[in-house]
Amino acid sequence: METITTIPELRSRLDAERETGRGVGFVPTMGYLHAGHLSLVEAALADNPVTVVSIFVNPLQFAEGEDLGAYPRDPAADSAQCEALGVDCLFVPSAQQMYPRPVATRVEVSSVAAPLEGVLRPHHFAGVATVVAKLFSIVGPCRAYFGDKDWQQVCVVRRMVSDLSIPVEVVACPTVRESDGLAMSSRNVYLSAEERRQAPVLRAALDAGLDAISGGERNPAVVEAAMRAVVGRAELASLDYAAAVQADSLVSEGPLHGEVRLLVAARFGRARLIDNDGSLIRPVC
Ligand code: PAJ
Repeated sequence: METITTIPELRSRLDAERETGRGVGFVPTMGYLHAGHLSLVEAALADNPVTVVSIFVNPLQFAEGEDLGAYPRDPAADSAQCEALGVDCLFVPSAQQMYPRPVATRVEVSSVAAPLEGVLRPHHFAGVATVVAKLFSIVGPCRAYFGDKDWQQVCVVRRMVSDLSIPVEVVACPTVRESDGLAMSSRNVYLSAEERRQAPVLRAALDAGLDAISGGERNPAVVEAAMRAVVGRAELASLDYAAAVQADSLVSEGPLHGEVRLLVAARFGRARLIDNDGSLIRPVC
């Protein structure tokens, strides 16, 4: 595995690979890698002759007062895990390399970026879209792997790629969970023992929503109330949202139909956790 820290080096390495007909798979991350990240790396390795993983804790997507300074980091373990899986290039740019001066250009996605996380973290997705656009520009044409866990992020990146005709194929991969259902996340390390015990309530809330839908419920407000009631059982959870929406637009107008996504976000002490799941409502003929 080659560890690359500068933009020109990564560009020329990947251009050379593509010139010899070797396609590139790309997994952007903020590091502190866990089995969820590694499942994306494995998918990229399986599909592409060359795999590049980036690790960059992107300051643009953190608001004032969020956990940028505290964000967990373990570069040695990240590198060892990537090397063991057979990653070809690890891109670990410094903040100076990525943003040598304050950025005057940001990528602002409206539509799918506006609801849910967009309401609570108004500048978050502009920070994500800007760094992902920049990484796509550096990596060049590739298949890029993202986790279903952050479904709204997948929608935002897909919309950006489509609107800006970026030559990247976005591949969404299933959420990897702990044995008790908690979605793996770098931020799970913030949980106290008792918060960790209660955190799987998010998965249980999604299950309650899915049960309501499979029982025939089509009113999003009723499905959302069922999800909220489950989160309410965890005394340490402070719910940000529990939503039942159309999977492509992330809003619900009228009865739920077609592909539906259930999304929850809650704070447990210092940790803010999100989770989601999907369901396909088949039309009645
Ligand atoms: P990060 O939180 O490090 O996540 C990197 C990728 O791993 C994302 O696509 C995320 O959805 C995926 N992922 C996280 N937990 C997962 C799990 N339990 N199962 C499957 N996939 C999982 O998301 C970001 O970084 C940043 O916003 C980034 C896209 C890198 C831009 O800075």
